[in-house]
Amino acid sequence: MTKMNQARVVVVGGSSGIGLGVAQAALAAGAAEVVVAGRSTERLAAAEDALAAHGPGRVRAVPLDVTDEKQIRTFFEAVGPFDHLAITAAETRYQALTAFDEGAARTVIESKLLGPVLLAKHAAARIRPGGSITLTAGVASERPLPKGALVAAVNGGLMALGRALALELAPIRVNVVSPGWIDTPVWDRLVGTAVGGKAAAFAAMAARLPVGRIGTPADVAAAFLFLMQNGFTTGTTLHVDGGHQLV
Ligand SMILES: NC(=O)c1ccc[n+]([C@@H]2O[C@H](COP(=O)([O-])OP(=O)(O)OC[C@H]3O[C@@H](n4cnc5c(N)ncnc54)[C@H](OP(=O)(O)O)[C@@H]3O)[C@@H](O)[C@H]2O)c1
Repeated sequence: MTKMNQARVVVVGGSSGIGLGVAQAALAAGAAEVVVAGRSTERLAAAEDALAAHGPGRVRAVPLDVTDEKQIRTFFEAVGPFDHLAITAAETRYQALTAFDEGAARTVIESKLLGPVLLAKHAAARIRPGGSITLTAGVASERPLPKGALVAAVNGGLMALGRALALELAPIRVNVVSPGWIDTPVWDRLVGTAVGGKAAAFAAMAARLPVGRIGTPADVAAAFLFLMQNGFTTGTTLHVDGGHQLV
């Protein structure tokens, strides 16, 4: 395992949820600097505050929309050489096929699948020897939610993308983390208005899972840190889902 000491880590999607957990874990493991990126400047400022306890000068928050290639190019020019790229940015939409809206579908594909392709394209030349890229898929690939056909397809696509880029970008290591149900703000949007809301949905899922609970951003962040540091792992998908694929 390589040390995180002196590493510069970029977390695209680092202003919330799993990405914020990855930023926390990288700083706790000794990363010299973590750059967090996302669209909302309010969320970025809140993330900077949340990460400030790790000491001055170790966190940079930079606005970025991964659906805009020009912004991506400028972003990496400003970041310069770095070691590890973690991509958790995504805007997911659930919709029945009978009411399929092409615009919503494009939002999912452009943020969660095409975004990582463009990020990898512009990041690769700046990643230092021993560095890595880690993508985020999701258990919806194996266990699709109702109205989740497109999200399932994109998650499956990301696992294939990880394998392909591990060959194409070698010796940069490219891996995928596939989370199960993780308690992040995304769930307020997904089930916040349903009967019983997030608490009821989580209690029902926790009762089904072999581990008996919903995951935390820290559970998933540990997988990202493993994949950044283990120099012999590339082209793989690490499932962090509490056994969700089995039930
Ligand atoms: N939470 C779960 O249970 C779960 C399960 C399986 C898979 N996942 C996957 O894990 C990843 C992270 O999810 P999360 O739960 O941590 O979600 P989250 O809390 O909503 O965080 C998503 C992050 O991505 C950023 N983002 C969204 N669209 C973006 C864009 N176009 N450009 C740049 N940044 C963008 C958001 O900031 P802005 O909105 O300000 O841009 C935010 O920082 C996603 O790929 C998600 O599909 C999550």
